[in-house]
Amino acid sequence: MDYPVFSVLPRHLAIIMDGNGRWAKQRGLPRSEGHKKGSEVFRKIGEYAGNIGIRHLTFYAFSTENWNRPENEVNALMNLFDSFLGEAIERLDENLEKGIRLRFLGDKNGVPAELRALMDYVEEQTKDCDKTFLNIAINYGGQQEITQAVQRIAQNVKDNNLKLEEITPELISSYLYTAEQPDPDLIIRPSGELRLSNFLTFQSAYSEFWFSDVLWPDFTEETLNEALADFEKRNRRFGGI
Ligand code: FPP
Repeated sequence: MDYPVFSVLPRHLAIIMDGNGRWAKQRGLPRSEGHKKGSEVFRKIGEYAGNIGIRHLTFYAFSTENWNRPENEVNALMNLFDSFLGEAIERLDENLEKGIRLRFLGDKNGVPAELRALMDYVEEQTKDCDKTFLNIAINYGGQQEITQAVQRIAQNVKDNNLKLEEITPELISSYLYTAEQPDPDLIIRPSGELRLSNFLTFQSAYSEFWFSDVLWPDFTEETLNEALADFEKRNRRFGGI
């Protein structure tokens, strides 16, 4: 495949995979089928984005609020994560060779124990990889992430390990799940919704946004190219002129 060349690429691209339910409904299918198709698109777009040279990728797969969905839908999503982790372990050698570091953003304590064990294993095995950083947000909430960071920082101040004046945006950043990674330059949300939904709340301060009516299961490499072509033209000033 010939890959397009962009004059500037996001160092970190984050995607909210939205619209699976509507995609399924349009076809008279159960919502779980939308998630299944969505998980195939996640694999395809993840691979493509890595191949065109985007180094840090974050996909929003399950929020802290998604537990409120019907049990069968939650189970279907957990099964998809389980299959993905099984595959990642099966292909560990290939992933290590490609230098893909996998990280899970979110509160792992809220995730079923068997899944958590696989997540920990994959993270540990890939921790020295540094070519592509693939983050999957599961049981993730931006406000919860900031809250736990504040609690840990406060504990360190209380224990005299940290001085108040040492608390800077950079320090707070280093307490987040994305520690040591650049903030997202571009956040994509398909399916026509124009909100962030508790995604990368702290990290998105200067992110560019790209919205589309395409539902996530219909999202293709061309849709991503369109977003990247648009990003290329953005004039990012970070508060300057
Ligand atoms: C939002 O669409 C999507 C989700 C809550 C789940 C996203 C998860 C996947 C695409 C599977 C990812 C798989 C792996 C292996 C990481 P929605 O269901 O809210 O859609 P709707 O707004 O149309 O109802």
